Amino acid sequence: MTIRQLRLGTMLHGAAGNMSAWRHPLAQADASISFDYAHHIARKAEAGKLDFLFVADGLYINEKSIPHFLNRFEPLTLLSALASVTQHIGLVGTVSTSYSEPFTVARQFASLDHLSGGRAGWNVVTSPLEGSAKNFSRQQHPEHALRYRIADEYLQVVKGLWDSWEEDAFVRNKQSGEFFAAGKLHTLNHHGDFFQVQGPLNIGRTPQGRPIIFQAGASEDGKKLAARHADAIFTHHATQQEAQAFYQDVKQQLVQNGRRPQDLHIFQGVSVIVGDSAADVEQQYQATAALVSLPEALNYLGRYFEHHDFTQYDPDAAFPDLGTLGQNSFRSTTDEIKRRAREQHHTLRQAALEAATPRPLFHGTPEQVADGLQLWFETGAADGFIINGGTPDAFERFVDRVVPILQQRGLTRREWPGTTLRASFDLPTPANAFVPS
Ligand SMILES: Cc1cc2nc3c(=O)[nH]c(=O)nc-3n(C[C@H](O)[C@H](O)[C@H](O)COP(=O)(O)O)c2cc1C
Repeated sequence: MTIRQLRLGTMLHGAAGNMSAWRHPLAQADASISFDYAHHIARKAEAGKLDFLFVADGLYINEKSIPHFLNRFEPLTLLSALASVTQHIGLVGTVSTSYSEPFTVARQFASLDHLSGGRAGWNVVTSPLEGSAKNFSRQQHPEHALRYRIADEYLQVVKGLWDSWEEDAFVRNKQSGEFFAAGKLHTLNHHGDFFQVQGPLNIGRTPQGRPIIFQAGASEDGKKLAARHADAIFTHHATQQEAQAFYQDVKQQLVQNGRRPQDLHIFQGVSVIVGDSAADVEQQYQATAALVSLPEALNYLGRYFEHHDFTQYDPDAAFPDLGTLGQNSFRSTTDEIKRRAREQHHTLRQAALEAATPRPLFHGTPEQVADGLQLWFETGAADGFIINGGTPDAFERFVDRVVPILQQRGLTRREWPGTTLRASFDLPTPANAFVPS
Protein backbone atom coordinates (compact mmCIF):
# COMPACT_ATOMS: atom_id res chain seq x y z
CA MET A 1 0.00 0.00 0.00
CA THR A 2 1.36 3.45 -0.89
CA ILE A 3 1.64 5.78 2.08
CA ARG A 4 -0.16 9.06 1.48
CA GLN A 5 2.47 11.81 1.26
CA LEU A 6 2.09 15.42 2.36
CA ARG A 7 3.15 17.76 -0.45
CA LEU A 8 4.59 21.25 -0.15
CA GLY A 9 4.99 24.28 -2.36
CA THR A 10 5.87 27.88 -1.70
CA MET A 11 4.66 31.16 -3.07
CA LEU A 12 7.08 33.52 -4.81
CA HIS A 13 5.73 37.04 -4.59
CA GLY A 14 8.10 39.55 -3.11
CA ALA A 15 8.90 40.18 0.54
CA ALA A 16 6.86 37.70 2.55
CA GLY A 17 4.53 38.72 5.36
CA ASN A 18 1.88 41.27 4.55
CA MET A 19 1.43 44.10 2.05
CA SER A 20 3.88 46.31 3.98
CA ALA A 21 6.47 43.62 4.70
CA TRP A 22 8.91 45.28 2.27
CA ARG A 23 9.57 47.82 5.09
CA HIS A 24 10.60 45.11 7.58
CA PRO A 25 14.28 45.33 8.60
CA LEU A 26 14.88 41.76 7.35
CA ALA A 27 13.08 42.23 4.03
CA GLN A 28 14.58 42.75 0.61
CA ALA A 29 12.48 45.74 -0.47
CA ASP A 30 12.71 45.01 -4.22
CA ALA A 31 12.09 41.25 -3.81
CA SER A 32 9.17 41.17 -6.30
CA ILE A 33 11.44 42.28 -9.15
CA SER A 34 14.72 40.66 -8.06
CA PHE A 35 15.80 37.52 -9.88
CA ASP A 36 18.50 36.97 -7.24
CA TYR A 37 15.79 36.88 -4.57
CA ALA A 38 13.63 34.45 -6.58
CA HIS A 39 16.66 32.25 -7.18
CA HIS A 40 17.53 32.33 -3.48
CA ILE A 41 14.00 31.16 -2.52
CA ALA A 42 14.11 28.50 -5.24
CA ARG A 43 17.41 27.17 -3.90
CA LYS A 44 16.00 27.10 -0.38
CA ALA A 45 12.88 25.28 -1.60
CA GLU A 46 15.03 22.71 -3.37
CA ALA A 47 17.12 22.27 -0.21
CA GLY A 48 13.86 21.40 1.62
CA LYS A 49 12.89 18.99 -1.22
CA LEU A 50 9.64 20.91 -1.77
CA ASP A 51 7.44 19.93 -4.68
CA PHE A 52 6.95 23.30 -6.39
CA LEU A 53 7.29 27.06 -6.55
CA PHE A 54 4.05 28.94 -7.18
CA VAL A 55 3.74 32.34 -8.87
CA ALA A 56 0.39 34.17 -8.60
CA ASP A 57 -0.49 37.02 -10.96
CA GLY A 58 -2.89 39.82 -11.80
CA LEU A 59 -3.66 41.90 -14.88
CA TYR A 60 -4.67 45.24 -13.46
CA ILE A 61 -3.09 47.64 -10.99
CA ASN A 62 -3.73 51.15 -9.82
CA GLU A 63 -1.98 53.37 -7.29
CA LYS A 64 -3.82 51.60 -4.44
CA SER A 65 -2.58 48.11 -5.31
CA ILE A 66 -0.35 46.13 -2.94
CA PRO A 67 3.28 47.32 -3.36
CA HIS A 68 4.60 44.00 -4.65
CA PHE A 69 1.87 43.92 -7.31
CA LEU A 70 3.07 47.25 -8.72
CA ASN A 71 6.38 45.98 -10.01
CA ARG A 72 6.71 42.25 -10.62
CA PHE A 73 7.76 39.67 -13.19
CA GLU A 74 5.39 38.03 -15.65
CA PRO A 75 5.12 34.45 -14.25
CA LEU A 76 6.18 32.38 -17.27
CA THR A 77 9.18 34.56 -18.00
CA LEU A 78 10.33 34.26 -14.39
CA LEU A 79 9.73 30.50 -14.29
CA SER A 80 11.60 29.97 -17.57
CA ALA A 81 14.61 31.75 -16.10
CA LEU A 82 14.33 29.69 -12.91
CA ALA A 83 14.10 26.49 -14.97
CA SER A 84 17.70 26.95 -16.04
CA VAL A 85 19.08 27.39 -12.50
CA THR A 86 17.05 24.67 -10.71
CA GLN A 87 17.04 20.91 -11.18
CA HIS A 88 14.11 19.34 -9.36
CA ILE A 89 11.46 21.75 -8.24
CA GLY A 90 8.09 22.13 -10.00
CA LEU A 91 7.41 25.53 -11.59
CA VAL A 92 3.77 26.63 -11.39
CA GLY A 93 2.61 29.91 -12.93
CA THR A 94 -0.71 31.75 -13.11
CA VAL A 95 -2.31 32.63 -16.44
CA SER A 96 -5.87 33.86 -16.91
CA THR A 97 -8.33 32.16 -19.27
CA SER A 98 -10.30 35.42 -19.60
CA TYR A 99 -7.49 37.44 -21.14
CA SER A 100 -5.37 35.12 -23.29
CA GLU A 101 -5.66 32.72 -26.22
CA PRO A 102 -5.57 28.93 -25.74
CA PHE A 103 -3.12 28.39 -28.61
CA THR A 104 -0.57 30.80 -27.10
CA VAL A 105 -0.95 29.48 -23.57
CA ALA A 106 -0.79 25.81 -24.63
CA ARG A 107 2.45 26.64 -26.43
CA GLN A 108 3.95 28.59 -23.53
CA PHE A 109 3.36 25.87 -20.94
CA ALA A 110 4.48 23.15 -23.35
CA SER A 111 7.68 25.16 -23.87
CA LEU A 112 8.22 25.52 -20.10
CA ASP A 113 7.65 21.77 -19.70
CA HIS A 114 10.28 20.98 -22.34
CA LEU A 115 12.72 23.59 -21.02
CA SER A 116 12.45 22.32 -17.46
CA GLY A 117 12.43 18.60 -18.22
CA GLY A 118 8.81 18.13 -17.09
CA ARG A 119 8.37 20.53 -14.20
CA ALA A 120 5.69 22.91 -15.56
CA GLY A 121 2.35 23.65 -13.92
CA TRP A 122 -0.37 26.12 -14.94
CA ASN A 123 -2.50 27.81 -12.29
CA VAL A 124 -5.74 28.50 -14.15
CA VAL A 125 -7.57 31.65 -13.02
CA THR A 126 -10.45 33.57 -14.56
CA SER A 127 -9.25 37.02 -13.37
CA PRO A 128 -11.21 38.68 -10.60
CA LEU A 129 -10.44 42.33 -11.36
CA GLU A 130 -12.88 44.34 -13.50
CA GLY A 131 -10.10 46.77 -14.48
CA SER A 132 -8.36 43.99 -16.43
CA ALA A 133 -10.77 44.63 -19.32
CA LYS A 134 -9.27 48.09 -19.80
CA ASN A 135 -5.84 46.58 -20.44
CA PHE A 136 -7.09 44.16 -23.10
CA SER A 137 -9.16 46.41 -25.37
CA ARG A 138 -12.42 45.05 -23.93
CA GLN A 139 -15.56 47.04 -23.12
CA GLN A 140 -16.51 44.82 -20.21
CA HIS A 141 -15.05 42.32 -17.76
CA PRO A 142 -16.92 39.04 -18.36
CA GLU A 143 -19.40 38.16 -15.62
CA HIS A 144 -18.41 35.43 -13.09
CA ALA A 145 -20.46 32.51 -14.56
CA LEU A 146 -19.48 33.42 -18.12
CA ARG A 147 -15.79 33.49 -17.13
CA TYR A 148 -16.08 29.92 -15.90
CA ARG A 149 -17.92 28.75 -19.07
CA ILE A 150 -15.09 30.26 -21.12
CA ALA A 151 -12.50 28.61 -18.83
CA ASP A 152 -14.08 25.18 -19.28
CA GLU A 153 -13.98 25.34 -23.08
CA TYR A 154 -10.52 26.93 -22.93
CA LEU A 155 -9.17 23.94 -20.99
CA GLN A 156 -10.70 21.47 -23.46
CA VAL A 157 -8.89 23.30 -26.26
CA VAL A 158 -5.54 23.47 -24.46
CA LYS A 159 -5.63 19.79 -23.55
CA GLY A 160 -6.55 18.94 -27.14
CA LEU A 161 -3.63 21.01 -28.44
CA TRP A 162 -1.23 19.33 -26.00
CA ASP A 163 -2.29 16.02 -27.62
CA SER A 164 -1.35 17.25 -31.13
CA TRP A 165 1.71 15.02 -31.31
CA GLU A 166 2.17 11.51 -30.02
CA GLU A 167 5.18 11.03 -27.80
CA ASP A 168 7.33 9.33 -30.45
CA ALA A 169 6.05 11.36 -33.42
CA PHE A 170 9.39 12.99 -34.28
CA VAL A 171 11.47 10.19 -35.80
CA ARG A 172 14.03 12.51 -37.50
CA ASN A 173 15.40 9.77 -39.74
CA LYS A 174 18.32 11.34 -41.63
CA GLN A 175 18.57 8.41 -44.06
CA SER A 176 14.94 8.26 -45.11
CA GLY A 177 14.23 11.98 -44.72
CA GLU A 178 11.24 11.21 -42.51
CA PHE A 179 11.11 13.99 -39.89
CA PHE A 180 7.88 12.90 -38.23
CA ALA A 181 5.53 9.94 -38.46
CA ALA A 182 2.50 11.29 -40.28
CA GLY A 183 0.03 9.07 -38.39
CA LYS A 184 1.19 10.53 -35.09
CA LEU A 185 0.16 14.09 -35.84
CA HIS A 186 -3.40 15.07 -34.81
CA THR A 187 -5.29 18.19 -35.76
CA LEU A 188 -7.81 19.40 -33.21
CA ASN A 189 -10.33 21.28 -35.39
CA HIS A 190 -12.19 22.74 -32.39
CA HIS A 191 -15.39 24.69 -33.07
CA GLY A 192 -17.07 25.82 -29.85
CA ASP A 193 -19.07 28.67 -28.32
CA PHE A 194 -16.00 30.79 -27.58
CA PHE A 195 -13.07 29.36 -29.51
CA GLN A 196 -12.35 28.21 -33.05
CA VAL A 197 -8.95 26.55 -32.99
CA GLN A 198 -7.67 24.30 -35.75
CA GLY A 199 -4.23 23.19 -34.46
CA PRO A 200 -1.99 21.28 -34.39
CA LEU A 201 0.31 22.84 -31.81
CA ASN A 202 3.80 23.65 -33.05
CA ILE A 203 5.63 21.88 -30.23
CA GLY A 204 5.84 18.16 -29.46
CA ARG A 205 4.18 16.23 -26.64
CA THR A 206 5.74 17.35 -23.39
CA PRO A 207 7.79 15.36 -20.87
CA GLN A 208 4.76 15.18 -18.54
CA GLY A 209 2.38 14.25 -21.37
CA ARG A 210 0.53 17.38 -20.36
CA PRO A 211 1.74 20.02 -17.86
CA ILE A 212 0.07 19.89 -14.43
CA ILE A 213 -3.12 21.98 -14.10
CA PHE A 214 -3.86 23.89 -10.92
CA GLN A 215 -7.11 25.76 -10.39
CA ALA A 216 -7.53 28.71 -7.99
CA GLY A 217 -11.09 29.79 -7.39
CA ALA A 218 -13.32 28.38 -4.65
CA SER A 219 -16.86 29.32 -5.70
CA GLU A 220 -19.28 26.58 -6.84
CA ASP A 221 -18.27 27.20 -10.47
CA GLY A 222 -14.60 27.16 -9.48
CA LYS A 223 -14.91 23.77 -7.77
CA LYS A 224 -16.83 22.37 -10.75
CA LEU A 225 -14.10 23.46 -13.15
CA ALA A 226 -11.43 21.88 -10.95
CA ALA A 227 -13.31 18.60 -10.61
CA ARG A 228 -13.55 18.33 -14.41
CA HIS A 229 -10.06 19.42 -15.41
CA ALA A 230 -7.51 20.05 -12.66
CA ASP A 231 -4.71 18.01 -11.09
CA ALA A 232 -4.49 20.35 -8.08
CA ILE A 233 -6.34 23.18 -6.36
CA PHE A 234 -4.88 26.21 -4.64
CA THR A 235 -7.33 27.34 -1.99
CA HIS A 236 -7.40 29.06 1.36
CA HIS A 237 -9.59 28.44 4.39
CA ALA A 238 -9.53 30.07 7.80
CA THR A 239 -10.57 27.04 9.85
CA GLN A 240 -10.00 23.30 9.79
CA GLN A 241 -13.77 22.66 9.59
CA GLU A 242 -14.19 24.90 6.53
CA ALA A 243 -11.18 23.27 4.88
CA GLN A 244 -12.62 19.78 5.57
CA ALA A 245 -16.01 20.70 4.09
CA PHE A 246 -14.34 22.09 0.96
CA TYR A 247 -12.09 19.01 0.69
CA GLN A 248 -15.00 16.57 0.95
CA ASP A 249 -17.10 18.50 -1.53
CA VAL A 250 -14.33 18.60 -4.18
CA LYS A 251 -13.40 14.92 -3.71
CA GLN A 252 -17.07 13.95 -4.11
CA GLN A 253 -17.34 16.02 -7.27
CA LEU A 254 -14.27 14.23 -8.64
CA VAL A 255 -15.96 10.88 -8.20
CA GLN A 256 -19.12 12.22 -9.85
CA ASN A 257 -16.90 13.12 -12.82
CA GLY A 258 -15.57 9.55 -13.06
CA ARG A 259 -12.24 10.43 -11.44
CA ARG A 260 -10.54 9.01 -8.33
CA PRO A 261 -10.22 11.13 -5.16
CA GLN A 262 -6.42 10.90 -5.40
CA ASP A 263 -6.43 12.30 -8.95
CA LEU A 264 -6.51 15.87 -7.61
CA HIS A 265 -4.45 17.30 -4.74
CA ILE A 266 -5.95 20.05 -2.60
CA PHE A 267 -3.41 22.61 -1.41
CA GLN A 268 -4.26 25.04 1.35
CA GLY A 269 -2.33 28.30 1.09
CA VAL A 270 -1.09 28.91 4.65
CA SER A 271 0.95 31.55 6.34
CA VAL A 272 3.47 30.40 8.96
CA ILE A 273 5.59 31.95 11.71
CA VAL A 274 8.21 29.73 13.35
CA GLY A 275 9.76 30.81 16.65
CA ASP A 276 11.52 29.57 19.76
CA SER A 277 8.59 30.27 22.09
CA ALA A 278 5.08 31.76 22.13
CA ALA A 279 6.59 35.13 23.13
CA ASP A 280 9.06 35.03 20.24
CA VAL A 281 6.27 34.20 17.75
CA GLU A 282 4.09 37.03 19.10
CA GLN A 283 6.95 39.49 18.84
CA GLN A 284 7.63 38.43 15.23
CA TYR A 285 3.94 38.77 14.37
CA GLN A 286 3.53 42.19 16.01
CA ALA A 287 6.69 43.56 14.38
CA THR A 288 5.25 42.69 10.94
CA ALA A 289 1.61 43.61 11.63
CA ALA A 290 2.64 47.04 13.00
CA LEU A 291 3.91 48.01 9.53
CA VAL A 292 0.32 48.16 8.16
CA SER A 293 -1.61 51.40 8.76
CA LEU A 294 -5.43 51.53 8.80
CA PRO A 295 -5.63 53.37 5.40
CA GLU A 296 -3.39 50.67 3.90
CA ALA A 297 -5.58 47.93 5.37
CA LEU A 298 -8.71 49.63 3.96
CA ASN A 299 -7.08 49.76 0.51
CA TYR A 300 -6.16 46.11 0.83
CA LEU A 301 -9.75 45.19 1.63
CA GLY A 302 -11.05 47.43 -1.18
CA ARG A 303 -9.12 45.53 -3.85
CA TYR A 304 -11.18 42.39 -3.23
CA PHE A 305 -14.37 44.44 -3.70
CA GLU A 306 -13.57 45.91 -7.12
CA HIS A 307 -11.40 48.64 -5.54
CA HIS A 308 -14.26 49.89 -3.39
CA ASP A 309 -13.36 53.00 -1.32
CA PHE A 310 -13.73 51.91 2.33
CA THR A 311 -12.35 55.21 3.67
CA GLN A 312 -15.88 56.68 3.22
CA TYR A 313 -17.16 54.73 6.27
CA ASP A 314 -16.60 55.16 10.01
CA PRO A 315 -13.96 52.50 10.73
CA ASP A 316 -15.35 51.90 14.20
CA ALA A 317 -18.94 51.31 13.07
CA ALA A 318 -20.22 47.86 12.12
CA PHE A 319 -18.86 46.39 8.86
CA PRO A 320 -20.95 48.07 6.12
CA ASP A 321 -23.70 46.30 4.18
CA LEU A 322 -22.16 45.91 0.72
CA GLY A 323 -25.06 44.16 -1.03
CA THR A 324 -23.77 42.17 -4.00
CA LEU A 325 -20.47 44.06 -4.27
CA GLY A 326 -17.64 41.56 -4.83
CA GLN A 327 -19.80 38.96 -6.61
CA ASN A 328 -18.12 39.61 -9.96
CA SER A 329 -14.58 39.75 -8.62
CA PHE A 330 -13.09 37.52 -5.88
CA ARG A 331 -16.50 35.94 -5.21
CA SER A 332 -15.50 33.18 -2.79
CA THR A 333 -13.16 35.51 -0.87
CA THR A 334 -15.60 38.42 -0.59
CA ASP A 335 -18.42 36.09 0.49
CA GLU A 336 -16.11 34.84 3.23
CA ILE A 337 -15.08 38.33 4.41
CA LYS A 338 -18.74 39.41 4.63
CA ARG A 339 -19.74 36.22 6.46
CA ARG A 340 -16.98 36.47 9.05
CA ALA A 341 -17.63 40.17 9.69
CA ARG A 342 -21.34 39.44 10.19
CA GLU A 343 -20.87 36.38 12.42
CA GLN A 344 -18.15 37.93 14.57
CA HIS A 345 -19.82 41.37 14.77
CA HIS A 346 -16.66 43.02 13.46
CA THR A 347 -16.23 46.74 12.92
CA LEU A 348 -14.76 47.83 9.58
CA ARG A 349 -11.40 48.43 11.31
CA GLN A 350 -11.35 44.88 12.69
CA ALA A 351 -12.35 43.32 9.37
CA ALA A 352 -9.75 45.35 7.41
CA LEU A 353 -6.93 44.54 9.84
CA GLU A 354 -7.92 40.90 9.95
CA ALA A 355 -7.76 40.77 6.14
CA ALA A 356 -4.50 42.72 5.80
CA THR A 357 -2.59 41.38 8.82
CA PRO A 358 -3.95 37.89 9.38
CA ARG A 359 -2.45 36.04 12.31
CA PRO A 360 -0.82 33.00 10.68
CA LEU A 361 -2.91 29.86 11.19
CA PHE A 362 0.22 27.81 11.76
CA HIS A 363 2.49 29.53 14.22
CA GLY A 364 4.62 28.40 17.15
CA THR A 365 7.70 26.30 17.73
CA PRO A 366 8.82 24.04 14.86
CA GLU A 367 7.06 21.08 16.52
CA GLN A 368 3.81 23.03 16.93
CA VAL A 369 3.84 24.13 13.27
CA ALA A 370 4.53 20.54 12.18
CA ASP A 371 1.70 19.31 14.48
CA GLY A 372 -0.76 21.77 12.92
CA LEU A 373 0.08 20.77 9.35
CA GLN A 374 -0.04 17.08 10.26
CA LEU A 375 -3.47 17.49 11.86
CA TRP A 376 -4.96 19.16 8.79
CA PHE A 377 -3.33 16.57 6.52
CA GLU A 378 -4.55 13.60 8.56
CA THR A 379 -8.07 14.86 9.14
CA GLY A 380 -8.94 15.45 5.48
CA ALA A 381 -8.51 19.22 5.41
CA ALA A 382 -5.66 19.24 2.87
CA ASP A 383 -3.41 17.05 0.74
CA GLY A 384 -0.64 19.60 1.01
CA PHE A 385 0.22 23.22 1.66
CA ILE A 386 1.50 26.26 -0.18
CA ILE A 387 3.71 27.91 2.40
CA ASN A 388 3.68 31.65 2.68
CA GLY A 389 6.10 33.20 5.15
CA GLY A 390 4.27 35.26 7.76
CA THR A 391 7.44 37.35 8.11
CA PRO A 392 10.28 37.95 5.63
CA ASP A 393 12.46 35.17 7.08
CA ALA A 394 9.70 32.71 8.02
CA PHE A 395 10.05 30.52 4.92
CA GLU A 396 13.75 29.93 5.58
CA ARG A 397 13.02 29.04 9.20
CA PHE A 398 10.29 26.71 7.96
CA VAL A 399 12.70 24.85 5.67
CA ASP A 400 15.48 24.71 8.26
CA ARG A 401 13.38 23.74 11.26
CA VAL A 402 9.94 22.39 10.31
CA VAL A 403 10.72 20.38 7.16
CA PRO A 404 13.18 18.05 8.99
CA ILE A 405 10.44 17.25 11.53
CA LEU A 406 7.93 16.48 8.77
CA GLN A 407 10.55 14.24 7.15
CA GLN A 408 11.35 12.45 10.41
CA ARG A 409 7.65 11.75 10.87
CA GLY A 410 7.52 10.25 7.37
CA LEU A 411 4.99 12.87 6.23
CA THR A 412 7.18 14.41 3.53
CA ARG A 413 9.86 12.63 1.55
CA ARG A 414 13.61 13.15 1.68
CA GLU A 415 14.13 12.84 -2.08
CA TRP A 416 12.11 13.51 -5.21
CA PRO A 417 10.57 10.29 -6.56
CA GLY A 418 11.33 11.21 -10.20
CA THR A 419 12.26 14.07 -12.46
CA THR A 420 8.85 15.60 -13.13
CA LEU A 421 6.22 17.48 -11.14
CA ARG A 422 3.76 14.77 -12.20
CA ALA A 423 6.03 12.17 -10.55
CA SER A 424 6.20 14.32 -7.37
CA PHE A 425 2.40 14.39 -7.37
CA ASP A 426 2.23 10.64 -8.10
CA LEU A 427 -0.20 11.27 -10.95
CA PRO A 428 -0.37 9.03 -14.02
CA THR A 429 0.64 10.37 -17.42
CA PRO A 430 -2.58 11.28 -19.21
CA ALA A 431 -3.55 9.27 -22.25
CA ASN A 432 -3.49 11.07 -25.59
CA ALA A 433 -7.17 11.62 -26.41
CA PHE A 434 -6.49 11.02 -30.12
CA VAL A 435 -5.03 7.57 -29.53
CA PRO A 436 -7.54 4.74 -28.96
CA SER A 437 -6.75 3.03 -25.65
C1 LIG B 1 -6.81 30.97 -3.16
C2 LIG B 1 -7.08 31.76 -4.40
C3 LIG B 1 -5.99 32.21 -5.17
C4 LIG B 1 -6.20 32.95 -6.33
N1 LIG B 1 -5.11 33.39 -7.06
C5 LIG B 1 -5.31 34.20 -8.14
C6 LIG B 1 -4.22 34.74 -8.88
O1 LIG B 1 -3.04 34.52 -8.60
N2 LIG B 1 -4.51 35.56 -9.92
C7 LIG B 1 -5.79 35.84 -10.30
O2 LIG B 1 -5.98 36.57 -11.27
N3 LIG B 1 -6.83 35.33 -9.62
C8 LIG B 1 -6.63 34.53 -8.56
N4 LIG B 1 -7.70 34.03 -7.88
C9 LIG B 1 -9.04 34.42 -8.35
C10 LIG B 1 -9.84 33.36 -9.09
O3 LIG B 1 -9.10 32.72 -10.03
C11 LIG B 1 -11.04 33.92 -9.79
O4 LIG B 1 -10.60 34.70 -10.86
C12 LIG B 1 -11.95 34.75 -8.88
O5 LIG B 1 -11.58 34.76 -7.55
C13 LIG B 1 -13.30 34.16 -8.85
O6 LIG B 1 -13.18 32.84 -8.42
P1 LIG B 1 -14.01 32.24 -7.21
O7 LIG B 1 -15.13 33.15 -6.98
O8 LIG B 1 -14.34 30.92 -7.82
O9 LIG B 1 -13.07 32.10 -6.04
C14 LIG B 1 -7.53 33.27 -6.72
C15 LIG B 1 -8.60 32.81 -5.97
C16 LIG B 1 -8.40 32.05 -4.83
C17 LIG B 1 -9.60 31.58 -4.04
